[in-house]
Amino acid sequence: ASGDEKELRAPICCILGHVDAGKTKLLDCIRGTHVQEREAGGITQQIGATYLPAENIRDRTSLKAETAIKVPGLLVIDTPGHESFSKMRSRGLSMCDVAVVVVDITKGLEKQTVESLHLLRRHNVSFIVALNKVDRLYGWKECTNAPIVEALKKQSDDVKSEYKWRLTKVVTDFKENGFNTAPYYENNKKKKVVNIAPTSAESGEGVPDLLLLLVRWLPDIITDKLAYDDTVECTVLEVNEHKDLGTTVDVVLINGVLRQGDQVIVCTKQGPVTTIIRDLLTPHPMKELKAKGAYKHHKEVRAGQGVKIVARTCKEGIYVQASSVGTLEAIIAHLKSSSVDIPVYAWNLGPVYKQDVMKASAMLKRKEEYAVILAFDVKVMPEASALAAESGLKIITADTVYRLVNIYTEHIKGLKE
Ligand code: GTP
Ligand code: MG
Ligand code: NA
Repeated sequence: ASGDEKELRAPICCILGHVDAGKTKLLDCIRGTHVQEREAGGITQQIGATYLPAENIRDRTSLKAETAIKVPGLLVIDTPGHESFSKMRSRGLSMCDVAVVVVDITKGLEKQTVESLHLLRRHNVSFIVALNKVDRLYGWKECTNAPIVEALKKQSDDVKSEYKWRLTKVVTDFKENGFNTAPYYENNKKKKVVNIAPTSAESGEGVPDLLLLLVRWLPDIITDKLAYDDTVECTVLEVNEHKDLGTTVDVVLINGVLRQGDQVIVCTKQGPVTTIIRDLLTPHPMKELKAKGAYKHHKEVRAGQGVKIVARTCKEGIYVQASSVGTLEAIIAHLKSSSVDIPVYAWNLGPVYKQDVMKASAMLKRKEEYAVILAFDVKVMPEASALAAESGLKIITADTVYRLVNIYTEHIKGLKE
Protein backbone atom coordinates (compact mmCIF):
# COMPACT_ATOMS: atom_id res chain seq x y z
CA ALA A 1 0.00 0.00 0.00
CA SER A 2 1.19 3.50 -0.74
CA GLY A 3 2.10 5.68 2.22
CA ASP A 4 -0.37 8.43 1.41
CA GLU A 5 -3.45 6.23 1.62
CA LYS A 6 -6.04 7.86 3.80
CA GLU A 7 -6.73 6.44 7.22
CA LEU A 8 -10.21 4.92 7.35
CA ARG A 9 -12.39 4.71 10.42
CA ALA A 10 -14.65 1.79 11.31
CA PRO A 11 -17.85 1.99 9.25
CA ILE A 12 -21.10 2.24 11.15
CA CYS A 13 -23.59 -0.30 9.90
CA CYS A 14 -27.28 -0.18 10.75
CA ILE A 15 -29.31 -3.40 10.82
CA LEU A 16 -32.86 -2.76 9.63
CA GLY A 17 -35.87 -4.88 8.80
CA HIS A 18 -39.32 -6.06 9.74
CA VAL A 19 -39.97 -7.45 13.23
CA ASP A 20 -38.60 -10.99 13.65
CA ALA A 21 -36.71 -11.03 10.34
CA GLY A 22 -33.69 -12.10 12.43
CA LYS A 23 -31.64 -8.89 12.89
CA THR A 24 -30.60 -9.59 16.46
CA LYS A 25 -30.17 -13.31 15.86
CA LEU A 26 -27.88 -12.56 12.93
CA LEU A 27 -25.75 -10.38 15.20
CA ASP A 28 -25.76 -13.12 17.82
CA CYS A 29 -24.52 -15.53 15.18
CA ILE A 30 -21.69 -13.13 14.26
CA ARG A 31 -20.76 -12.30 17.88
CA GLY A 32 -21.28 -15.74 19.37
CA THR A 33 -23.71 -14.22 21.91
CA HIS A 34 -27.29 -14.92 23.05
CA VAL A 35 -28.82 -11.45 23.25
CA GLN A 36 -31.98 -12.35 21.30
CA GLU A 37 -33.02 -15.19 23.64
CA ARG A 38 -33.01 -12.82 26.60
CA GLU A 39 -35.07 -10.04 25.04
CA ALA A 40 -38.50 -9.52 26.62
CA GLY A 41 -41.07 -10.99 24.25
CA GLY A 42 -38.29 -11.73 21.79
CA ILE A 43 -38.37 -8.19 20.44
CA THR A 44 -35.70 -5.50 20.43
CA GLN A 45 -36.81 -2.27 22.10
CA GLN A 46 -33.65 -0.22 22.14
CA ILE A 47 -30.86 0.63 19.75
CA GLY A 48 -27.74 -1.46 20.37
CA ALA A 49 -24.14 -1.00 19.29
CA THR A 50 -21.46 -3.66 18.92
CA TYR A 51 -17.88 -3.24 17.78
CA LEU A 52 -16.51 -6.04 15.62
CA PRO A 53 -12.71 -5.76 15.28
CA ALA A 54 -11.35 -6.58 11.80
CA GLU A 55 -9.43 -9.58 13.14
CA ASN A 56 -12.55 -11.18 14.63
CA ILE A 57 -14.31 -10.65 11.31
CA ARG A 58 -11.39 -12.25 9.47
CA ASP A 59 -11.73 -15.35 11.69
CA ARG A 60 -15.29 -15.77 10.47
CA THR A 61 -14.40 -15.55 6.78
CA SER A 62 -12.12 -17.38 4.39
CA LEU A 63 -9.83 -14.33 4.08
CA LYS A 64 -6.15 -15.19 4.14
CA ALA A 65 -3.97 -13.57 6.76
CA GLU A 66 -2.06 -11.57 4.11
CA THR A 67 -5.23 -10.07 2.60
CA ALA A 68 -5.63 -6.58 3.97
CA ILE A 69 -8.82 -5.34 5.56
CA LYS A 70 -8.86 -1.58 5.00
CA VAL A 71 -10.98 -0.72 8.01
CA PRO A 72 -10.06 -1.30 11.68
CA GLY A 73 -13.43 -2.93 12.37
CA LEU A 74 -17.13 -2.48 12.03
CA LEU A 75 -19.61 -0.88 14.40
CA VAL A 76 -23.02 -2.51 14.00
CA ILE A 77 -26.18 -0.83 15.20
CA ASP A 78 -29.12 -3.12 15.96
CA THR A 79 -32.56 -1.53 15.66
CA PRO A 80 -36.06 -2.67 16.65
CA GLY A 81 -38.30 -3.88 13.82
CA HIS A 82 -41.60 -3.44 15.63
CA GLU A 83 -43.79 -0.80 13.99
CA SER A 84 -43.93 1.46 17.07
CA PHE A 85 -40.20 2.10 16.95
CA SER A 86 -40.00 3.95 13.65
CA LYS A 87 -38.36 7.01 15.29
CA MET A 88 -35.61 4.78 16.65
CA ARG A 89 -35.01 3.21 13.23
CA SER A 90 -34.79 6.62 11.69
CA ARG A 91 -32.28 7.69 14.35
CA GLY A 92 -30.28 4.53 13.90
CA LEU A 93 -30.05 5.12 10.21
CA SER A 94 -29.14 8.80 10.51
CA MET A 95 -25.81 7.88 12.14
CA CYS A 96 -24.90 5.11 9.71
CA ASP A 97 -22.61 4.76 6.71
CA VAL A 98 -24.23 1.62 5.41
CA ALA A 99 -27.12 -0.68 6.24
CA VAL A 100 -28.04 -4.33 6.17
CA VAL A 101 -31.71 -4.89 5.45
CA VAL A 102 -32.73 -8.25 6.84
CA VAL A 103 -35.54 -10.01 4.97
CA ASP A 104 -37.08 -13.32 6.03
CA ILE A 105 -36.90 -15.50 2.88
CA THR A 106 -40.09 -17.32 3.85
CA LYS A 107 -42.02 -14.03 4.11
CA GLY A 108 -40.47 -11.72 1.54
CA LEU A 109 -40.78 -7.94 1.82
CA GLU A 110 -42.93 -6.89 4.78
CA LYS A 111 -44.30 -3.57 6.01
CA GLN A 112 -41.26 -2.35 7.95
CA THR A 113 -38.93 -3.66 5.24
CA VAL A 114 -40.60 -1.24 2.85
CA GLU A 115 -40.48 1.53 5.47
CA SER A 116 -36.74 0.88 5.81
CA LEU A 117 -36.31 1.19 2.04
CA HIS A 118 -37.96 4.62 2.12
CA LEU A 119 -35.60 5.70 4.90
CA LEU A 120 -32.58 4.40 3.00
CA ARG A 121 -33.58 6.29 -0.10
CA ARG A 122 -34.22 9.48 1.86
CA HIS A 123 -30.82 9.29 3.61
CA ASN A 124 -29.10 8.04 0.45
CA VAL A 125 -27.45 5.14 2.28
CA SER A 126 -26.01 2.10 0.46
CA PHE A 127 -27.16 -1.25 1.72
CA ILE A 128 -26.90 -5.01 1.47
CA VAL A 129 -29.88 -7.35 1.76
CA ALA A 130 -29.46 -10.30 4.12
CA LEU A 131 -32.02 -12.79 2.84
CA ASN A 132 -32.29 -14.64 6.11
CA LYS A 133 -33.68 -17.95 7.39
CA VAL A 134 -32.61 -20.00 4.34
CA ASP A 135 -32.49 -22.97 6.73
CA ARG A 136 -36.29 -22.77 6.84
CA LEU A 137 -36.55 -23.84 3.20
CA TYR A 138 -38.26 -27.21 3.29
CA GLY A 139 -35.67 -30.00 3.45
CA TRP A 140 -32.66 -27.68 3.90
CA LYS A 141 -29.47 -29.59 4.66
CA GLU A 142 -27.49 -27.77 7.32
CA CYS A 143 -23.93 -26.74 6.38
CA THR A 144 -22.83 -24.81 9.46
CA ASN A 145 -21.11 -21.50 8.64
CA ALA A 146 -20.51 -22.49 5.00
CA PRO A 147 -20.35 -19.87 2.24
CA ILE A 148 -23.77 -19.79 0.59
CA VAL A 149 -22.71 -21.08 -2.84
CA GLU A 150 -21.20 -24.18 -1.23
CA ALA A 151 -24.25 -24.69 0.98
CA LEU A 152 -26.57 -24.39 -2.04
CA LYS A 153 -24.61 -27.02 -3.98
CA LYS A 154 -25.32 -29.53 -1.19
CA GLN A 155 -29.10 -29.05 -1.39
CA SER A 156 -31.65 -31.26 -3.15
CA ASP A 157 -33.28 -30.10 -6.39
CA ASP A 158 -36.49 -29.32 -4.50
CA VAL A 159 -34.69 -27.01 -2.07
CA LYS A 160 -32.80 -25.38 -4.92
CA SER A 161 -36.00 -24.70 -6.81
CA GLU A 162 -37.82 -23.31 -3.74
CA TYR A 163 -34.80 -21.11 -3.09
CA LYS A 164 -34.88 -19.90 -6.66
CA TRP A 165 -38.54 -18.93 -6.80
CA ARG A 166 -38.46 -17.23 -3.41
CA LEU A 167 -35.36 -15.30 -4.42
CA THR A 168 -37.00 -14.27 -7.71
CA LYS A 169 -40.07 -13.06 -5.81
CA VAL A 170 -37.92 -10.94 -3.49
CA VAL A 171 -35.99 -9.46 -6.42
CA THR A 172 -39.31 -8.59 -8.11
CA ASP A 173 -40.65 -6.97 -4.93
CA PHE A 174 -37.50 -4.87 -4.57
CA LYS A 175 -37.88 -3.83 -8.19
CA GLU A 176 -41.43 -2.68 -7.43
CA ASN A 177 -39.98 -0.50 -4.69
CA GLY A 178 -37.49 1.02 -7.08
CA PHE A 179 -34.36 -1.01 -6.27
CA ASN A 180 -32.42 -3.34 -8.57
CA THR A 181 -31.09 -6.29 -6.60
CA ALA A 182 -29.21 -9.51 -7.38
CA PRO A 183 -27.61 -12.31 -5.38
CA TYR A 184 -24.12 -11.01 -4.75
CA TYR A 185 -22.46 -14.08 -6.33
CA GLU A 186 -24.12 -13.24 -9.67
CA ASN A 187 -23.87 -9.47 -9.37
CA ASN A 188 -21.48 -7.89 -11.89
CA LYS A 189 -22.56 -4.31 -11.21
CA LYS A 190 -21.95 -4.11 -7.49
CA LYS A 191 -21.98 -0.33 -7.49
CA LYS A 192 -25.39 -0.06 -9.13
CA VAL A 193 -27.21 -3.24 -8.22
CA VAL A 194 -27.88 -3.96 -4.55
CA ASN A 195 -26.27 -7.16 -3.28
CA ILE A 196 -28.38 -9.89 -1.76
CA ALA A 197 -26.54 -12.16 0.68
CA PRO A 198 -28.63 -15.23 1.61
CA THR A 199 -28.02 -16.20 5.25
CA SER A 200 -29.09 -18.36 8.13
CA ALA A 201 -28.69 -16.84 11.56
CA GLU A 202 -29.52 -20.26 12.95
CA SER A 203 -26.78 -22.36 11.35
CA GLY A 204 -24.52 -19.64 9.91
CA GLU A 205 -24.71 -20.42 6.17
CA GLY A 206 -23.86 -17.28 4.19
CA VAL A 207 -22.74 -15.30 7.25
CA PRO A 208 -19.06 -15.31 6.15
CA ASP A 209 -20.19 -13.91 2.78
CA LEU A 210 -22.14 -11.10 4.43
CA LEU A 211 -19.15 -10.15 6.58
CA LEU A 212 -16.85 -10.21 3.56
CA LEU A 213 -19.15 -7.88 1.67
CA LEU A 214 -19.10 -5.48 4.59
CA VAL A 215 -15.35 -5.33 5.08
CA ARG A 216 -14.12 -5.85 1.50
CA TRP A 217 -16.76 -4.45 -0.85
CA LEU A 218 -18.11 -1.68 1.33
CA PRO A 219 -14.95 0.35 2.02
CA ASP A 220 -14.35 0.61 -1.74
CA ILE A 221 -17.87 1.89 -2.34
CA ILE A 222 -17.84 4.58 0.35
CA THR A 223 -14.13 5.35 0.82
CA ASP A 224 -14.67 9.10 1.04
CA LYS A 225 -17.33 8.78 3.70
CA LEU A 226 -14.99 6.66 5.81
CA ALA A 227 -12.03 9.05 5.79
CA TYR A 228 -10.99 9.54 9.40
CA ASP A 229 -11.47 13.14 10.55
CA ASP A 230 -10.53 14.80 13.87
CA THR A 231 -13.79 16.70 14.10
CA VAL A 232 -15.88 14.96 16.72
CA GLU A 233 -19.22 13.72 15.48
CA CYS A 234 -21.25 11.92 18.07
CA THR A 235 -24.84 10.75 18.64
CA VAL A 236 -26.36 10.11 22.06
CA LEU A 237 -28.21 6.82 22.46
CA GLU A 238 -29.10 7.09 26.13
CA VAL A 239 -28.44 8.94 29.37
CA ASN A 240 -28.49 6.82 32.53
CA GLU A 241 -27.95 7.14 36.27
CA HIS A 242 -25.63 4.29 37.18
CA LYS A 243 -25.46 3.40 40.85
CA ASP A 244 -21.64 3.31 40.95
CA LEU A 245 -20.68 5.47 37.99
CA GLY A 246 -23.15 8.34 38.37
CA THR A 247 -24.39 9.87 35.15
CA THR A 248 -23.40 7.88 32.07
CA VAL A 249 -24.08 8.72 28.46
CA ASP A 250 -24.08 6.00 25.81
CA VAL A 251 -22.97 7.43 22.49
CA VAL A 252 -22.00 6.38 19.02
CA LEU A 253 -18.78 8.12 18.11
CA ILE A 254 -19.04 8.57 14.35
CA ASN A 255 -15.84 10.52 13.80
CA GLY A 256 -12.96 12.02 15.78
CA VAL A 257 -11.55 11.16 19.21
CA LEU A 258 -13.02 11.52 22.69
CA ARG A 259 -10.58 11.97 25.57
CA GLN A 260 -10.87 11.97 29.34
CA GLY A 261 -11.14 15.57 30.51
CA ASP A 262 -12.89 16.76 27.32
CA GLN A 263 -15.85 19.00 27.84
CA VAL A 264 -19.06 17.85 26.18
CA ILE A 265 -22.60 19.16 25.95
CA VAL A 266 -25.37 16.60 26.16
CA CYS A 267 -29.01 17.30 25.37
CA THR A 268 -31.22 15.79 28.07
CA LYS A 269 -34.92 16.05 28.92
CA GLN A 270 -33.98 18.78 31.41
CA GLY A 271 -32.24 20.74 28.67
CA PRO A 272 -28.57 20.91 27.59
CA VAL A 273 -26.04 19.83 30.21
CA THR A 274 -22.35 20.68 30.04
CA THR A 275 -20.06 18.14 31.58
CA ILE A 276 -16.49 16.87 31.62
CA ILE A 277 -15.64 13.33 30.52
CA ARG A 278 -14.42 11.54 33.64
CA ASP A 279 -13.98 8.11 32.07
CA LEU A 280 -14.56 6.36 28.76
CA LEU A 281 -15.82 2.81 28.75
CA THR A 282 -16.41 0.33 25.96
CA PRO A 283 -17.84 -3.16 26.21
CA HIS A 284 -15.42 -5.91 25.28
CA PRO A 285 -15.18 -6.48 21.51
CA MET A 286 -18.15 -8.38 20.07
CA LYS A 287 -20.33 -7.41 23.06
CA GLU A 288 -23.39 -5.13 23.14
CA LEU A 289 -22.98 -1.63 24.58
CA LYS A 290 -26.48 -1.74 26.12
CA ALA A 291 -25.92 -5.12 27.80
CA LYS A 292 -24.82 -4.86 31.41
CA GLY A 293 -21.40 -6.41 31.50
CA ALA A 294 -17.74 -5.73 32.10
CA TYR A 295 -16.25 -2.62 30.50
CA LYS A 296 -12.80 -1.62 29.32
CA HIS A 297 -11.50 1.77 30.49
CA HIS A 298 -9.88 4.13 28.00
CA LYS A 299 -7.98 7.43 28.14
CA GLU A 300 -9.20 8.07 24.62
CA VAL A 301 -11.48 6.41 22.09
CA ARG A 302 -11.33 6.72 18.31
CA ALA A 303 -14.25 6.61 15.87
CA GLY A 304 -16.28 4.67 14.92
CA GLN A 305 -17.09 3.16 18.25
CA GLY A 306 -19.91 2.74 20.76
CA VAL A 307 -18.85 4.39 24.02
CA LYS A 308 -20.20 4.82 27.52
CA ILE A 309 -19.13 8.26 28.72
CA VAL A 310 -18.87 8.60 32.48
CA ALA A 311 -19.75 12.23 33.06
CA ARG A 312 -18.48 14.45 35.80
CA THR A 313 -21.78 16.19 36.38
CA CYS A 314 -20.84 19.70 37.30
CA LYS A 315 -23.77 20.21 39.61
CA GLU A 316 -23.45 19.16 43.24
CA GLY A 317 -26.17 19.36 45.87
CA ILE A 318 -28.87 17.57 47.76
CA TYR A 319 -31.99 15.84 46.46
CA VAL A 320 -35.41 17.20 47.38
CA GLN A 321 -38.65 15.31 47.23
CA ALA A 322 -42.04 16.91 47.97
CA SER A 323 -45.75 16.20 47.69
CA SER A 324 -46.61 19.15 45.45
CA VAL A 325 -45.04 21.76 43.22
CA GLY A 326 -45.98 24.50 45.69
CA THR A 327 -44.20 22.90 48.65
CA LEU A 328 -41.27 21.96 46.46
CA GLU A 329 -40.85 25.59 45.40
CA ALA A 330 -41.05 26.73 49.01
CA ILE A 331 -38.39 24.24 50.11
CA ILE A 332 -36.03 25.10 47.27
CA ALA A 333 -36.47 28.82 47.91
CA HIS A 334 -35.70 28.32 51.58
CA LEU A 335 -32.65 26.15 50.85
CA LYS A 336 -31.31 28.76 48.47
CA SER A 337 -31.88 31.66 50.89
CA SER A 338 -28.75 33.32 52.22
CA SER A 339 -29.34 32.09 55.77
CA VAL A 340 -29.12 28.46 54.70
CA ASP A 341 -27.65 28.32 51.17
CA ILE A 342 -27.78 24.61 50.42
CA PRO A 343 -27.46 23.72 46.72
CA VAL A 344 -30.07 21.45 45.15
CA TYR A 345 -28.84 18.81 42.72
CA ALA A 346 -32.20 17.38 41.64
CA TRP A 347 -35.78 17.05 42.78
CA ASN A 348 -38.88 14.97 42.28
CA LEU A 349 -42.55 14.88 43.27
CA GLY A 350 -44.40 12.07 45.08
CA PRO A 351 -43.16 9.06 47.04
CA VAL A 352 -39.44 8.33 47.29
CA TYR A 353 -38.68 5.36 45.06
CA LYS A 354 -35.52 3.33 44.48
CA GLN A 355 -34.76 5.41 41.36
CA ASP A 356 -34.68 8.57 43.49
CA VAL A 357 -32.20 6.92 45.85
CA MET A 358 -30.07 5.85 42.90
CA LYS A 359 -30.06 9.36 41.47
CA ALA A 360 -29.27 11.00 44.80
CA SER A 361 -26.52 8.43 45.44
CA ALA A 362 -24.46 10.08 42.70
CA MET A 363 -23.34 12.46 45.47
CA LEU A 364 -21.87 9.68 47.62
CA LYS A 365 -18.78 9.66 45.43
CA ARG A 366 -18.72 13.42 44.88
CA LYS A 367 -19.57 15.14 48.14
CA GLU A 368 -20.73 13.10 51.10
CA GLU A 369 -22.57 15.95 52.82
CA TYR A 370 -24.88 16.23 49.80
CA ALA A 371 -25.71 12.51 49.78
CA VAL A 372 -29.13 13.26 51.24
CA ILE A 373 -32.79 13.19 50.23
CA LEU A 374 -34.94 15.77 51.99
CA ALA A 375 -38.42 14.23 51.84
CA PHE A 376 -41.25 16.57 52.69
CA ASP A 377 -44.73 15.18 53.24
CA VAL A 378 -44.13 12.12 51.06
CA LYS A 379 -43.95 8.38 51.63
CA VAL A 380 -40.60 6.62 51.49
CA MET A 381 -41.04 3.24 49.85
CA PRO A 382 -39.52 0.28 51.77
CA GLU A 383 -37.19 -0.68 48.86
CA ALA A 384 -36.00 2.93 48.75
CA SER A 385 -35.19 2.92 52.50
CA ALA A 386 -33.43 -0.42 52.19
CA LEU A 387 -31.30 0.73 49.27
CA ALA A 388 -30.45 4.02 51.02
CA ALA A 389 -29.39 2.18 54.20
CA GLU A 390 -27.27 -0.19 52.16
CA SER A 391 -25.51 2.49 50.14
CA GLY A 392 -25.09 5.02 52.96
CA LEU A 393 -27.49 7.65 51.66
CA LYS A 394 -29.39 9.62 54.28
CA ILE A 395 -33.14 10.15 53.87
CA ILE A 396 -34.53 12.91 56.07
CA THR A 397 -38.28 13.25 56.55
CA ALA A 398 -40.08 16.00 58.42
CA ASP A 399 -43.37 17.87 58.38
CA THR A 400 -42.03 21.41 58.22
CA VAL A 401 -39.40 22.91 55.98
CA TYR A 402 -37.53 24.31 58.99
CA ARG A 403 -37.33 20.95 60.71
CA LEU A 404 -36.09 19.37 57.50
CA VAL A 405 -33.28 21.88 57.26
CA ASN A 406 -32.46 21.64 60.97
CA ILE A 407 -32.15 17.88 60.86
CA TYR A 408 -29.99 18.22 57.77
CA THR A 409 -27.61 20.74 59.40
CA GLU A 410 -27.34 18.53 62.48
CA HIS A 411 -26.54 15.61 60.20
CA ILE A 412 -23.72 17.55 58.54
CA LYS A 413 -22.31 18.56 61.93
CA GLY A 414 -22.31 14.87 62.83
CA LEU A 415 -20.42 14.02 59.64
CA LYS A 416 -17.78 16.65 60.34
CA GLU A 417 -17.13 15.48 63.90
P1 GTP B 1 -37.02 -7.44 16.30
O1 GTP B 1 -35.80 -6.95 16.94
O2 GTP B 1 -38.08 -7.73 17.27
O3 GTP B 1 -37.49 -6.57 15.18
O4 GTP B 1 -36.72 -8.89 15.61
P2 GTP B 1 -35.36 -9.33 14.89
O5 GTP B 1 -35.39 -8.96 13.47
O6 GTP B 1 -34.20 -8.91 15.70
O7 GTP B 1 -35.51 -10.93 14.89
P3 GTP B 1 -34.92 -11.90 16.02
O8 GTP B 1 -33.46 -11.95 15.97
O9 GTP B 1 -35.58 -11.54 17.29
O10 GTP B 1 -35.48 -13.30 15.48
C1 GTP B 1 -36.87 -13.58 15.48
C2 GTP B 1 -37.09 -15.10 15.55
O11 GTP B 1 -36.62 -15.72 14.37
C3 GTP B 1 -36.33 -15.76 16.70
O12 GTP B 1 -37.13 -16.80 17.21
C4 GTP B 1 -35.11 -16.34 16.03
O13 GTP B 1 -34.60 -17.46 16.69
C5 GTP B 1 -35.64 -16.70 14.66
N1 GTP B 1 -34.62 -16.64 13.62
C6 GTP B 1 -33.87 -15.57 13.30
N2 GTP B 1 -33.04 -15.84 12.28
C7 GTP B 1 -33.28 -17.13 11.96
C8 GTP B 1 -32.75 -18.01 10.96
O14 GTP B 1 -31.89 -17.66 10.16
N3 GTP B 1 -33.25 -19.28 10.92
C9 GTP B 1 -34.24 -19.69 11.77
N4 GTP B 1 -34.66 -20.94 11.64
N5 GTP B 1 -34.75 -18.89 12.70
C10 GTP B 1 -34.29 -17.64 12.80
MG1 MG C 1 -34.03 -7.65 17.29
NA1 NA D 1 -37.67 -10.35 17.41
